[in-house]
Amino acid sequence: MSQRISGVKGMIDLLPPDIAVWQALEAAARETFRRFGYEEARTPVAEDTALFVRSVGEATDIVGKEMYTFQDKAGRSLSLRPEGTAPLVRAYVEHAVAQREPVTRWWYLGPMFRYERMKTGRYRQFWQAGAEAYGVSAPAQETELIDLAMQLFRALGLDGIRVELNSLGDPETRGVYLESLRSFLRAHRSELCAECQERTEKNPLRVFDCKNPGCQAVVAGAPAITEALSDEARAHFEVVQRQLSLLGIPFRVNPRMVRGIDYYTRTAFEFLSDDPVLGTASAVGGGGRYDRLVKELGGPDTPAVGWALGMDRLFLLLQAKGVVQPARPVLFVAVAEEGAADAALALVSRLRRAGHRVEFDARGGSLKSQMKRADKSGAAYALVLGSRELTSGEAQLKPLAGGEPVPLRLDALESALAARR
Ligand code: HAM
Repeated sequence: MSQRISGVKGMIDLLPPDIAVWQALEAAARETFRRFGYEEARTPVAEDTALFVRSVGEATDIVGKEMYTFQDKAGRSLSLRPEGTAPLVRAYVEHAVAQREPVTRWWYLGPMFRYERMKTGRYRQFWQAGAEAYGVSAPAQETELIDLAMQLFRALGLDGIRVELNSLGDPETRGVYLESLRSFLRAHRSELCAECQERTEKNPLRVFDCKNPGCQAVVAGAPAITEALSDEARAHFEVVQRQLSLLGIPFRVNPRMVRGIDYYTRTAFEFLSDDPVLGTASAVGGGGRYDRLVKELGGPDTPAVGWALGMDRLFLLLQAKGVVQPARPVLFVAVAEEGAADAALALVSRLRRAGHRVEFDARGGSLKSQMKRADKSGAAYALVLGSRELTSGEAQLKPLAGGEPVPLRLDALESALAARR
């Protein structure tokens, strides 16, 4: 036997029957985006590496450690996208969308790539569904997007997803806060891991994201960013909270939630689940406002807000509920003798053309084994075709879940199946 080649570590196959759960997830996402007036945007999986360095940030784990970066044959440095926000902003700027419309609302769904340590709910290729809105500086844009995510969770029957909020303020006032955080961290230098000692100088906010218990203990006593907001940023944050309450969306303000990406300004939020199927991967989504990014990437000064949901994690939650059933055929056609095989093939083709999901087994075999396969297929009905049925033009429609067979004419099968769908 030849040597077997395995899939890439951390990149998983999504196969039947689980794919039915994925399809239910995607359908609910599409439907919810439609209701909110968001339109789909698709960008390539690879981008110029500089795009992520400039947007996500050089000192983040994503850019510093987790990107799949390679040179193409012409020597360009490309990276598989670790997230979808920067690529969408790149496209928004490149296609001068701001000149065509004052407000743009886009959604996307696709695979993202981060070289992370594998565990439950954390993969190297994972799927995100995201929404991004450009052109609105009002706090109602955050509120609308959080409402969108909550309505999607509700459509999926996933209750128990919590919202955590924070405000990261504006870059102008953040400088003062970063300095006070830096001096606090310097005073606790010996309690920090080597990496956080470095982060203290390069990008102190990232210390909040460190999983090391020693560093966690230090940041628990650190000054909170919410204490250092400008009056505008504070007022903006208060309106978001008031509007969420207006819509009946519960939330908790978590001043230590800073997100692992550099482009955020003002509101940042996360959607969290405590369901044990997720292990420690409790964030099912996150996002926030990023008012400076469009300009930083060469576009006009345009405010923006967005989020992305981790579809693999939503999949785990939905699968554990066990509510999504794979679609089943309505009819299984079996042949009583080999001479009827061509007629069965033609009949099955005719019914499929009429829109019915019909199965048959081209391998043939004994009627008993075919009926076993019919049961296994999950079909609602079976029909046996032999010379008797072909001559009379009549057959029996047998309910596979039990019950009396129903006689009917073969030429009336389409309508009989339609009535039973
Ligand atoms: P993020 O928090 O890095 O944000 O990712 C969003 C979600 O993607 C996470 O909450 C998580 O559910 C999922 N996720 C992230 N990494 C993995 C992984 N390795 N395996 C499985 N799931 C994962 C962003 O990506 C931002 N672009 C969100 C955003 C959009 N901000 C503004 N607009």
